[in-house]
Amino acid sequence: MSLADLNKVAMAMVAPGRGILAADESSGTIKKRFDAIGVESTEANRRDYREMLFRAKEGMSYISGVILYDETIWQKAEDGTPLVKLIEAAGSIPGIKVDEGTEDLAGARGDVITKGLDGLSKRLPKYYEQGARFAKWRAVIDPTGGRPSYAGLLSNVHALARYANLCQAANIVPIVEPEVLMDGDNDIEQTYAITQWVLKETFQQLYYLNVELEGIVLKPNMIVPGKKAAKKAGIEEVAEQTIRCLKSCVPSAVPGIAFLSGGQSDEEATAHLDAMNKLGGFPWKMTFSYGRALQAAPQKAWSGKKENLHAGQAAFTHRARMNGLASLGKWSPELEKKVA
Ligand code: 13P
Repeated sequence: MSLADLNKVAMAMVAPGRGILAADESSGTIKKRFDAIGVESTEANRRDYREMLFRAKEGMSYISGVILYDETIWQKAEDGTPLVKLIEAAGSIPGIKVDEGTEDLAGARGDVITKGLDGLSKRLPKYYEQGARFAKWRAVIDPTGGRPSYAGLLSNVHALARYANLCQAANIVPIVEPEVLMDGDNDIEQTYAITQWVLKETFQQLYYLNVELEGIVLKPNMIVPGKKAAKKAGIEEVAEQTIRCLKSCVPSAVPGIAFLSGGQSDEEATAHLDAMNKLGGFPWKMTFSYGRALQAAPQKAWSGKKENLHAGQAAFTHRARMNGLASLGKWSPELEKKVA
């Protein structure tokens, strides 16, 4: 595959009116989500839940790509159809989470480092063969308590660049995800400063590792205050600061930016994305790559019961449609109320 082909996939991932469904919760994370709705996390339940989403025809029309966990990419639907085929049939691109979570980075003020580079060059062609055309790797930066350390930050963005380099060599578009967490007491100025540092170092490492920017999708956090911050921020302020920060760091060769939701409420995540697209004035497509902000509602509506399947799909479709509109700057709070 050439760079033009990688660019084609990246552009499709951020196509206007569509965005990415992050359904790549690790076994530990999906168990937490299922615990919250009283569902046992068995392989069959995980399959049934994800099959429900991928078969939601209207909802999937707003979804350009789906990030899968390793277990899911090999799973078959109840009728024997591979789940990957359901995603393709919905006109969406299958993707795969390839990082292997985090561990403590010794001597780095409590920073963690993302694992998964060992053997990655061998795993990628197998995922490609299975249908994956893009991948995801998440670097986790905790901005609280004097963090991140230089060691923590640099090791993480270097690993991101190594991963992106290997993906492109395997004809897979890397989603580059440096996430500055939003559960601390950092105010919006601190989030801005640390995110800016993280993004500057990320693009420097991508350059050193010969990663072609036309063939990536960036998945950053928005510039929001931490959940425990004394000072809150309005929708407009978050939108303005996020655009300002990204404009100072992200080259215009990058086709698109697909945000993580990171623990924002469903409606906040939608409102922020919409406000940014209403403001405009940036060179990239801006859309969503949400996990929780797309799935909290359908998980609750479904609650593991077959008879709730349509309710689960309707809840998913609603959130996907709201975020699809936000990716065009065409959402409004009234649209939420109409359905609620
Ligand atoms: P959230 O939108 O729930 O933050 O998840 C997105 C994701 O893929 C995090 O890695």
